[in-house]
Amino acid sequence: VHEQPTIFIIFGATGDLAWRKLAPALYNLFVDKFMPHNFAIIGNARAKMTDEEFQGKMLEGVNQFSRNGKADKTLWKEFAQHISYQSSDVQDNASYKSFADFIEAFETKHKSKARVIYYLAVAPRFFPIIASKLAENNLATDPKTSRVVIEKPFGHDLESAKDLNVLLSTLFQEEQIYRIDHYLGKEPVQNIMAFRFANSILEPIWNRNYIEHVQISVTEQLGVENRGGYYEGAGAMRDMIQNHLLQLLCLVAMETPINFEADEIRNRKVDVLHAMRKFEPDDVQKYVVRGQYAKGWLEGEDVEGYRKEKGVDPQSNTETFAAVKFFVDNWRWQGVPFYVRSGKRMHQNTSTIIIQFKDVPHCVFPTQVTDNWQQNRLVISIQPEMSIRLQLQVKRPGLDMVLNTVDMLFNYKGTYKHGEPEAYETLLTDIMEGDQTLFMRGDQVEAAWELLMPILNAWGNRKSLSFPNYQAGSWGPELAEALIAQDGFHWFTLP
Ligand code: BG6
Repeated sequence: VHEQPTIFIIFGATGDLAWRKLAPALYNLFVDKFMPHNFAIIGNARAKMTDEEFQGKMLEGVNQFSRNGKADKTLWKEFAQHISYQSSDVQDNASYKSFADFIEAFETKHKSKARVIYYLAVAPRFFPIIASKLAENNLATDPKTSRVVIEKPFGHDLESAKDLNVLLSTLFQEEQIYRIDHYLGKEPVQNIMAFRFANSILEPIWNRNYIEHVQISVTEQLGVENRGGYYEGAGAMRDMIQNHLLQLLCLVAMETPINFEADEIRNRKVDVLHAMRKFEPDDVQKYVVRGQYAKGWLEGEDVEGYRKEKGVDPQSNTETFAAVKFFVDNWRWQGVPFYVRSGKRMHQNTSTIIIQFKDVPHCVFPTQVTDNWQQNRLVISIQPEMSIRLQLQVKRPGLDMVLNTVDMLFNYKGTYKHGEPEAYETLLTDIMEGDQTLFMRGDQVEAAWELLMPILNAWGNRKSLSFPNYQAGSWGPELAEALIAQDGFHWFTLP
């Protein structure tokens, strides 16, 4: 990473993502000495701004959102020297000419070919135009040195995702295309593969013979903030389930790869999506629940309902919550339900994966000695706590034989002294190194859309009459409880 001079060109540089995520990530990579010796960051957007003003905005982002708190004055000064800003319209050929001039001057100065990373942190309608202009202006001709990073959402449905893939594949090589799903960069998410495939005791029980069901929950207290305009056209299914939650499901359900090569891992993950049971239109009602938050009470404050949020239609039919019961139809998982849910304005901020094991085949203890008997459960907590806990039954100390449930706990905080890199630090490093393991391949994105299209179509055809149907600050609509309760289970939450 260090030797090759590198240029980051960030489109949409005045947007939320650049400010909240990219600025802190790039700065922390610089502080931790993971940035190349020679690098430049060019921010591009329509707003008029001087280099200094743009640097100031990036600094604000670091100060507010960096995992390490406020920037160090001296280090920031050094880092900011690498940042410049160019105001232009993405349609305008002149701006691409000036990128070309910049790259040429940079390469001459450093007497070496530069690695150029084009980061499209823009609304999806700009993906095709920027990608086409980059190609037209010969800015990404060498697959070894030029990379194009596409933020989500990748498509609005199967059709549009296919169109975008076709376009990108005519302009670039697949090895140049980095489709971001930032959940894949989170430390505990990366750890799922280490945990599953570097420990021999898990594989024998990681299947339908021992696992009763799986739950994957990503719940947020946050509402739609300033993103009403985008969210109205998306909803929880497109915003979260299509990408983040299905990716988590793939990591849990995938077969063991034969090596750690990007394509091998991605092949095993896409196999899962292909094995997932497709819903018939009539199944949607049975296996899927949608919700939208009404006003409510969160962390001691009144909060508005979704239909009152900025940029949201007062009659909106967009779901801010979705829960689905999926099945993976293969030998490993036949008959094991995977319950998946995600929602905004929920009671807690949590991202967890629960592997619920089957009960013992025969309980030898009389019922009165089992206090709160639980089946064995593995809880992978991604955020806010980062941990893996295995819940077991033990004898409680005392003269009587009484059993209760305890945790065997691996907790990042207690185990490692150094803070963990943010997802975007990992992903930006991988882009520089040319490692696509944690990025979505075109066929994965399409397979995920294909799986969800029957649901999206059914919803599109039938307005929900019951919206809003859960209170802000609750655990979502009652129907979501019923979805899992009818099978005799309940959604698990960490205390
Ligand atoms: C984004 C979604 O992809 O992920 C947001 O568009 C959501 O709606 C966010 O809030 C959640 O990410 P994280 O890292 O905060 O869990």
